[in-house]
Amino acid sequence: MADDPFLNKDNLMTKSAKKSSSVYRMVVLMIVMVCGVYICSICLKQLNFQTKSRFLSIVIDRPCEPPNIEEWEAPYVHFPGPQTYSRAECRCNPVRYFAILSMQRSGSGWFETLLNSHINISSNGEIFSVKVRKSNASTILDTLDKIYNLDWYSSAAKNECTAAVGLKWMLNQAEILARYKPFINSTLLIPNLRQVEDMSTQALEYFKSTRHIVVYYEDLVQNRTKLEEIQDFLRVPRRNLESRQVKIHKGPLSEQVENWKDMEKTLKGTKYESFLYGDYRK
Ligand SMILES: *[C@@H]1O[C@H](CO)[C@@H](O)[C@H](O)[C@H]1NC(C)=O
Ligand SMILES: *[C@@H]1O[C@H](CO)[C@@H](O)[C@H](O)[C@H]1NC(C)=O
Ligand SMILES: *[C@@H]1O[C@H](CO)[C@@H](O)[C@H](O)[C@H]1NC(C)=O
Ligand SMILES: *[C@@H]1O[C@H](CO)[C@@H](O)[C@H](O)[C@H]1NC(C)=O
Repeated sequence: MADDPFLNKDNLMTKSAKKSSSVYRMVVLMIVMVCGVYICSICLKQLNFQTKSRFLSIVIDRPCEPPNIEEWEAPYVHFPGPQTYSRAECRCNPVRYFAILSMQRSGSGWFETLLNSHINISSNGEIFSVKVRKSNASTILDTLDKIYNLDWYSSAAKNECTAAVGLKWMLNQAEILARYKPFINSTLLIPNLRQVEDMSTQALEYFKSTRHIVVYYEDLVQNRTKLEEIQDFLRVPRRNLESRQVKIHKGPLSEQVENWKDMEKTLKGTKYESFLYGDYRK
């Protein structure tokens, strides 16, 4: 313990002997500090214009509190920040997006006028009837971005307090969507498939004590008896089920993906190989 330099008696004595010199050093240090602060303040003054605007934008970007809603509904709630105006006091009012899918001559125009008579609803009509907006996937996405960001001007455009915004899409205009071919990243394909698989395994594990039925798309397409099984599960009388859904992606799977050759190369020989042959043409 005596070896500890801080408790050593000699050391303490030396310290007090040097007290006057340490006071001198303190004074010098103070002067240096005051000079430093002064120089700093001059520098800050010169930077002021730039920093001010940066701080301002941070304040404006403060995120809105999620509203008091059920957890399952959270993904459907949005807080758009229009570029062309400010949502002002409704900045943090949640907005829901919708699309009316309909066939022509089915009364959807009348339905839309009913919706638009509500102060918080803005349904922007058949915006994709204008050819240039649906000319390719990127013009479609740009148009949708504008609408859902509340930056779209039309007779239906409401004020900054719009709480539901949408459009009408005629099902017979869906061919352009069908023509859109995704480019699938082959490096990420297997990891992504694995991730989806893990997710469904986890979900099944989570709900294993809950009554459930697993339904694969392939079952519904290829085996109509599956539908009877589902009706039994739901305890409803068996009926012949029909859907008026219009299938927009027609033709072989290989024609639906831009880089199909890459997909073949990536999946051949893996346990996902069967996905390559899953053609559900009817
Ligand atoms: C999409 O269409 C617009 C308008 O016709 C055009 O300006 C743009 O270059 C097209 N983009 C692509 C990726 O084809
Ligand atoms: C609906 O609009 C009114 C008037 O603009 C606004 O005061 C109200 O907060 C809006 N409601 C919602 C749910 O956004
Ligand atoms: C595929 O994704 C990886 C990882 O995100 C990326 O590094 C790579 O550039 C992508 N490849 C293509 C062809 O887009
Ligand atoms: C069709 O589904 C039923 C029950 O859902 C099953 O028992 C049967 O084996 C399936 N048939 C084929 C050909 O997959």
